[in-house]
Amino acid sequence: MLSGRQLRQKYLDFFASRGHKVIPSTSLVPQNDPTTLFTSSGMQPLIPYLLGQRHPLGTRLVDSQKSFRSQDIEEVGDNRHTTFFEMLGNWSLGDYFKKEQLAWIWEFFTTEVGLPKDKLHVTLFEGNDQVGRDEESARIWQKLGVPDDHIHYYDAKKNWWSRSGVPDQMPAGEPGGPDSEIFFDFGADLKLHENSQWKNEECHVNCDCGRFLEIGNSVFMQYQKQADGSLKELSQKNVDFGGGLERILAAVHNDPDIFKTDLFLPIINEIENFTEKEYADHATEMRIIADHLKAATFMIAEGLEPSNKLQGYVLRRLLRRSAVKTHLLRGGLTPIPAFEGICHTVISIYPDYFDITADRDKISRVVVNEMVKFGRSLDRGLKELGKYTPDQLNELNAFNLYQTYGFPYEITDELFMAKGKKLDKEKFEHVQKVHQKLSQTASAGMFKGGLADHSETV
Ligand code: SER
Repeated sequence: MLSGRQLRQKYLDFFASRGHKVIPSTSLVPQNDPTTLFTSSGMQPLIPYLLGQRHPLGTRLVDSQKSFRSQDIEEVGDNRHTTFFEMLGNWSLGDYFKKEQLAWIWEFFTTEVGLPKDKLHVTLFEGNDQVGRDEESARIWQKLGVPDDHIHYYDAKKNWWSRSGVPDQMPAGEPGGPDSEIFFDFGADLKLHENSQWKNEECHVNCDCGRFLEIGNSVFMQYQKQADGSLKELSQKNVDFGGGLERILAAVHNDPDIFKTDLFLPIINEIENFTEKEYADHATEMRIIADHLKAATFMIAEGLEPSNKLQGYVLRRLLRRSAVKTHLLRGGLTPIPAFEGICHTVISIYPDYFDITADRDKISRVVVNEMVKFGRSLDRGLKELGKYTPDQLNELNAFNLYQTYGFPYEITDELFMAKGKKLDKEKFEHVQKVHQKLSQTASAGMFKGGLADHSETV
C-alpha cells in the first residue's frame, strides 16, 4: 500500500521530471510576513514571485509545504479536516498555463497514482461581471477524456481562489484567480450526505457532505486587485496548484477517512491504547486529539512555546484542548508520558521533518511543562463546570474557569455548547476587562491578570 512518504516523493519526482525545481517546505511560522500567524498554503511564501519577482530557481517549482489553518479548528473531527496538513504544490511563474497544468495533474492522479477516472469530477469558475466563464479549461478537460457530467461550474465562492476569498474581499495588491478543483467520489453508498447538515439539499460535488473529497486545486493566478476595486491582469500568468497530501492518500486507498492513513493511524492506535477506548466508537474526539498533538509537535519543533499571545496562544489552545478531550475520554487524569508518546510517534511518522534526537527532547520538555501546569487545574476545573446547571452557565463563570483553572475561552465555549449554552465573546471580554481594571486598582498594579500570569502559578 502506498505510504504518505512515498506519495509525497512520487509527486515531487513527477514534477521534477517535467522541469520543476524542488524547493524545501518553509517553516510554519512565516518569515518576514507579519500579516498572518501561520503558513496556511504553499503559495504564501511565493507571493513576491507570483507578482513578478524572479525566483532564483526559475519559473517551475514544486514542493510539499507544512501548513496550518487555525480557521479550520472547529471542523476537525470529521473524516477529512485537520488544522495541520501538508500541501503538495507546483507552480508556473509565468511559464506554462492551463493546458499543461490540467494535463499533468490529470496524468499524475490517474496514471502515476492510479485513481480511477470515473471517480474524478472537476469544477470550474462560472464567471462574473469581470472575468469570463472558464470554457477554455472545460475544453481541456473534455480533451483529456473527462465526460461532461463530471465537469461542473460554480461561482466565485467555490471556484475563485485568493488568500482572502472572493474578488470583493481581496485587498488592493492581492493576487488571485479562477480555479479548477478535482474531487474524488467515494460513492453514494457512504450515506455521509444523509447525516450531514446539508441533508435537506441535493448532494452535489461541492456540497461538503464528505462523499466528494477535494484532492487538488489548480489556481490560474493571473489577476491582481486594484485600489479602485477592479481586477487587473498580472504581468505574468501563473499556475498555483495545491493538494492535501493526506486527502490524496485517502483517495488512493479509496477510504474517505484520512485518519486511517499511515500519516495518522499510529497516533490513533496510541490514543486507543492509553484511553482503552475504540476509535470506531470515539472517532471525533480521537481525531481532534491526533490532529492537535500533531500540529503542536510541528510547532514546538520550530521553537514555539505555549504562551498567551499570537502563535503561542494557538499552541496552548491545541495542547489544552487535547488534554481536555483526553480527560473526558478516559474519565480522569491522563499520565503525561502518554502525551509525550504521541508527540514522539508524530516524529517517527515524519522522519524528513525532524531532527529526531534534539526534537524529541525539546518537544518532551515543552509538552511536559504545559501539561503539568494545566493538569493540576484541569480536573478541578471540569468538576467546577459540572456543578453549573445550564441556567447558571454564563460569561462570568467562563471567566472564572479561565482565570482560576487556565481554561482557554474557546475550550469553555465548546464545553458550554455541549450543555446547550453559547457564550458571547464580547461579554466575556467585557468581564475580563472589568476584572483587570478592578485588580489593577485593588492591588496598585501588582496583579496583572490574564491566563499567562495565572497559569505560571497553577
Ligand atoms: N493556493 C491554492 C490553495 O491553497 C492552491 O495552491 O488551495
